[in-house]
Amino acid sequence: MGLPEVSDDGLRTIEEALTKSRRYASIAPATVRRMAHKALVAAHGDVPEAIKRTKRGLHEIYGAYLPGNAPNYGAMLRQLQAAARRNEEQAVLDALSAAMGVHASTRERLPHLRTFYEEIFSRITPPTAIRDLACGFNPLAVPWMPVPGTVTYLASDIDLGLVAFVDRALGLLGVAHRAEAVDLIGARLADPVDLTLLLKTVPCLERQQPGAGWELLDAVNSPTVVTTFPTKSLGRRSKGMFQTYSAAFAAHASERSWQVEQLEIPNELIYIVRK
Ligand SMILES: C[S@@+](CC[C@H](N)C(=O)[O-])C[C@H]1O[C@@H](n2cnc3c(N)ncnc32)[C@H](O)[C@@H]1O
Repeated sequence: MGLPEVSDDGLRTIEEALTKSRRYASIAPATVRRMAHKALVAAHGDVPEAIKRTKRGLHEIYGAYLPGNAPNYGAMLRQLQAAARRNEEQAVLDALSAAMGVHASTRERLPHLRTFYEEIFSRITPPTAIRDLACGFNPLAVPWMPVPGTVTYLASDIDLGLVAFVDRALGLLGVAHRAEAVDLIGARLADPVDLTLLLKTVPCLERQQPGAGWELLDAVNSPTVVTTFPTKSLGRRSKGMFQTYSAAFAAHASERSWQVEQLEIPNELIYIVRK
């Protein structure tokens, strides 16, 4: 069932307000429109209230992972470029680690990054293409992934600035890739790919539209899907998240003929799903 109709003028006013917002101006227009529509319904047509709700919603699904000011993509790229030009492997890894430290999701994975990818890739067939959905800064971790140098990396998220940054960074690393803005709510992902990464994103999609995260896991057209769940909140206090997400995943998987392996690193519960 779709949302009730709202006024086009109201929607446009919210969109304009968001394009003037320093924090949310780079969010994909389709995502802003979707969030604005929902906010306008919840605010019973009160536009100023709907603007506040739209920003609050975008903070929860996107802004909370990033620092108060927009990341300095230019500076991060210059650092990476300089290291790549000098052809110094450690300097490249340092520049990538520094960039990944800017986004909360990759920051908390950093101390365990090598183990994380070695454990995953030792269990699966080497992929020719990887699709990283709601990728955040994770595509910068390609050098930590034991994958063939010929791998193609397909990255997407809802932030145009982040996607442009990932595009440039993967280019500097010499990785064949495509980086684009994709809103996973209602997205069609029919193109087959051998491996899909859906890291720490199912709960974020469930918050936006109940059922959407689990439906996406079913819909992705990949024989292998790696999906993970946070086991600590952003505020660092564990809230029984491991129990909640492992029980929810077990209930979902039990109704499907998937083969599943479960792994764990600090802060993250990992499932390798073979369909
Ligand atoms: C918890 S972070 C995970 C980032 C990355 N997958 C990782 O684990 O490092 C959630 C990510 O989902 C993105 N996101 C939120 N809602 C989305 C949507 N509807 N469609 C696509 N991406 C979305 C956010 O911008 C953010 O980068």
